[in-house]
Amino acid sequence: MTSANAVPFVVAIDGPAGAGKSTVARGLATRLGYTFLDTGALYRSVALIAQRRRIPWDDTVHLGELARVLDVVFAKDGDGTRVVADGSDVTQDIRQAEISEGASRVSAVPEVRAGLLAIQRRVAARANVVAEGRDIGTVVFPAAQAKFFLVANSETRARRRTLELAAAGKPAIFADVLAEMLARDARDSGRAVAPLRRAEDAVEIDSSLLTPEEVMAHMLAVVRARGG
Ligand code: DC
Repeated sequence: MTSANAVPFVVAIDGPAGAGKSTVARGLATRLGYTFLDTGALYRSVALIAQRRRIPWDDTVHLGELARVLDVVFAKDGDGTRVVADGSDVTQDIRQAEISEGASRVSAVPEVRAGLLAIQRRVAARANVVAEGRDIGTVVFPAAQAKFFLVANSETRARRRTLELAAAGKPAIFADVLAEMLARDARDSGRAVAPLRRAEDAVEIDSSLLTPEEVMAHMLAVVRARGG
């Protein structure tokens, strides 16, 4: 924050899986000197820790309890961030395909969303943030000064995810990645609580034919115009 009494500046970036949110949110946060808040990592951590404790992904009571007390820390590590949940480094494990599905499932549980809401708001109470997820501009930070809805066609999103997986040494079949992604989109957009949708005042950007640099330049111009 620039002065002791200034209201933190929040940049909200929502959109479906594979639209490029993480890449541009991280880059934008670096450029602006803001904190990067990866809210998907919170849902992923709940899914992973639940799996380790043998709590089923539809056990609303125990999942709600877990989300309320879960200790998730984003620790700076060079240029990157490590995610530490309940004292263990889960950075790699939360990216497994199985946990992507688990995160999407636990994120439909209202008690989980309520538990994680407090964590997200605490971060932006003390610092300017670039937050990315599904309900950032609609539910978590409805008063965010700059909101974006980042989209891309499903083939492009699945192709990016397939390349990411290959780069991480986990080759996957494009058709499987596409099917998994479409199922996840349907669940994230169709759930009753905080579904994925564009906030009315969000600027929509289609990244299908744009590089991350071009998307960031567009966002940066909007943020600067709004005083960020
Ligand atoms: O962005 P991601 O792929 O890491 O998110 C994993 C899942 O978490 C996603 O399928 C839906 C859920 N999620 C959510 O419901 N709300 C958010 N703000 C962020 C993620």
